[in-house]
Amino acid sequence: SGGGEAKSERTLAIIKPDGLFGNHTDAVKKIILESGFRILKEKIVQLDQESAASFYAEHSARSFFHSLVQYMTSGPVLVMVLEKDDAVSSWRTLIGPTDASKAKITHPQSIRAMCGTDAEKNCVHGSDSPQSAQREISFFFDSMPSGVQAIEHDEL
Ligand code: TYD
Ligand code: MG
Repeated sequence: SGGGEAKSERTLAIIKPDGLFGNHTDAVKKIILESGFRILKEKIVQLDQESAASFYAEHSARSFFHSLVQYMTSGPVLVMVLEKDDAVSSWRTLIGPTDASKAKITHPQSIRAMCGTDAEKNCVHGSDSPQSAQREISFFFDSMPSGVQAIEHDEL
């Protein structure tokens, strides 16, 4: 082979509480599948404060951290492992910029523009690197901290 082929990769996607409450799950999943991702695993979970803080530990010194943890524990989230060539960067491109209010102007076709509100309530998460993806997938699907409560789909 000549090299330069895209490499099959996995990333972690989350539909955050505003995405689930706002009934955006079907629209987001439609985009995921139409964009050629395979959804390898998925589950709905309720995070507690400790597990949300642990997931976002890299931001623990930021001014928005406490509010972010409150928001991420305000309701259930849907976590998914997505697979595709260059999954990490492809998914980041699809979701758009962090601040959904800005995304509505600069990236109106993005998922965050479609279903997010602002820099906090931005509807979806995507791993920012292959290393982060590995850590985040393992967080939800291997280690499963005790503060991550699985919820049956039909409980919603
Ligand atoms: P960050 O990793 O910078 O963004 P992204 O989700 O695009 O990788 O921040 C993580 C989350 O923290 C972000 O999705 C929402 C929240 N957040 C705020 O609430 N306010 C902010 O100003 C920023 C930058 C992030
Ligand atoms: Mg990030």
